[in-house]
Amino acid sequence: MSEDLGFVHRFEPGEGPLTLLILHGTGGNENDLVGLARALDPNANLLSPRGRVLENGMPRFFRRLAMGVFDVEDLIARTHELVRFVDQAVGAYRLDAGRIVAVGYSNGANIAASMLLLHPQTLSAAALLHAMPPFEPESVPDLSGKPILLTAGRHDSMVPGELSDKLAQMYSEAGAEVALEWMPGGHELTQQEIKVAADWLAQVKGKTDR
Ligand code: MLT
Repeated sequence: MSEDLGFVHRFEPGEGPLTLLILHGTGGNENDLVGLARALDPNANLLSPRGRVLENGMPRFFRRLAMGVFDVEDLIARTHELVRFVDQAVGAYRLDAGRIVAVGYSNGANIAASMLLLHPQTLSAAALLHAMPPFEPESVPDLSGKPILLTAGRHDSMVPGELSDKLAQMYSEAGAEVALEWMPGGHELTQQEIKVAADWLAQVKGKTDR
């Protein structure tokens, strides 16, 4: 664990050149998804920050006003802050800035969703597990050809299905290569989903390695 670069974070070097930016859910921390990320790619560098907002002691990446109601001003400021962290980590750990793939779950997926809208150049691809639209962007970002995986639960009480469809549509309109994969359950992460994400990442790597 390191507290440098403005975020408590964990960095696990891999054989590279890919880096997975791992973003945990509400109440999680930088250790939560490291095992999952290793399952997705045994060779990637893993960069895993802990959200800096506390909600009743639970780390998050931005404030919310109520369940599913975001403090958009805070979300936008925290998104810029997270992008600064990533930029600094690229220098500090000598990462390839053109090969950073976000893997976020729930609250972590939502801030990654915001990064794609506000800083489309920071991520080369993103796997957003149980994300929702973070806000309506003022202008459509250029996500041309960017691979984005969205997973959604058919019975997710936190993210109603129409919000997953809306996010997929938002990214498609921005030119991204969107894959929306429906899971039979709710908001929880499942083995099935991890397999879907691993297969998607293998495809993404196959394309960029050529
Ligand atoms: C959020 O606040 O980002 C979403 O409601 C998901 C979560 O509970 O973290």
